[in-house]
Amino acid sequence: MRIILAPMEGVVDYEMRDVLTRIGGYDRCVTEFVRVTDQLLPNKTYFRFSPELEQGGTTPAGIPVYLQLLGGSPKYMALNAARAQKLSPPGIDINFGCPSKTVTNSDGGSALLREPCRVGDIVAAVRDAVDPAIPVTAKIRLGFNNADYLDNIVDNIVRAGANELCIHARTRTDHYKPPAHWSLVKSVREQHAIPIIINGEIWNIADSHRAKQESGCTDIMLGRGAMSHPDLAAKIKAEQSGNTHEAMAWPAILDMITRYLHNTENKHPRFVGNRLKQWLVFLHRQYPESVALFNKVKRLKEADDVFAALK
Ligand SMILES: Cc1cc2nc3c(=O)[nH]c(=O)nc-3n(C[C@H](O)[C@H](O)[C@H](O)COP(=O)(O)O)c2cc1C
Repeated sequence: MRIILAPMEGVVDYEMRDVLTRIGGYDRCVTEFVRVTDQLLPNKTYFRFSPELEQGGTTPAGIPVYLQLLGGSPKYMALNAARAQKLSPPGIDINFGCPSKTVTNSDGGSALLREPCRVGDIVAAVRDAVDPAIPVTAKIRLGFNNADYLDNIVDNIVRAGANELCIHARTRTDHYKPPAHWSLVKSVREQHAIPIIINGEIWNIADSHRAKQESGCTDIMLGRGAMSHPDLAAKIKAEQSGNTHEAMAWPAILDMITRYLHNTENKHPRFVGNRLKQWLVFLHRQYPESVALFNKVKRLKEADDVFAALK
């Protein structure tokens, strides 16, 4: 089984990938999406989304980071993929799942799931533009309003030559509302030979078992579960291999958060407080101690005050 750390815009950035992959359990990460419209983006954009490109395309812990592109034009997606591949990313992922109105109203993300042919055209154009040695993967939802086109979409993606596919088992209309419909992935999983990764609503070990069993997939992707439970991937892997795993206690979480914030501080000194609050909200699910810390820092603006509160 492989575990992939989900792309999460504004949340899973370089520094977050670094701290989470140091804990272990992850086999791959995916960057936040790079928006492609009708321009060829400069290299600096790719380096901004994936500073890992300057260190062989992996996190400091050695986990490969695929670069994610989002856009509705086969031509510009291909041109940008052709340029990005020269920076040697370990893989290129295409986002067909983003539900945000800003993205779907401007020809991108999950809006494209209403046009299975264009989904196939985009994947084919990117696949053709990229060295065959570099995997091209796609990430979709079940559909836009419903899962009626799922077979068709997956068929087109596979025929276009994608190496792997991740399915977030909800529609665009479902947004992030539970449950995730893992069982709807089973029939496409059975029909296609490429690896299909199941994603959505995996918060603990029991969910990982159910998601795999109901979808028939062997690989999983963790998003919010990874943020609320930073050692979830390590725990799942340990259980699978029959090893013991010592759960991260709150002091270890505090050390990890402090390290993360110190790393982000140089780039975004004004966002230290917001980044901390954002993570604490995810942690509420698993660590009740995070609520008191949130209340303590919620009005703090200066980075020094935030670090003092963490002590
Ligand atoms: C804040 C946030 C940002 C996200 N950004 C991206 C993104 O940039 N690219 C992408 O493919 N999916 C993105 N997603 C979707 C996640 O990768 C994942 O599919 C979704 O959260 C479901 O998985 P989960 O239930 O494990 O969180 C984002 C989700 C959230 C909550």
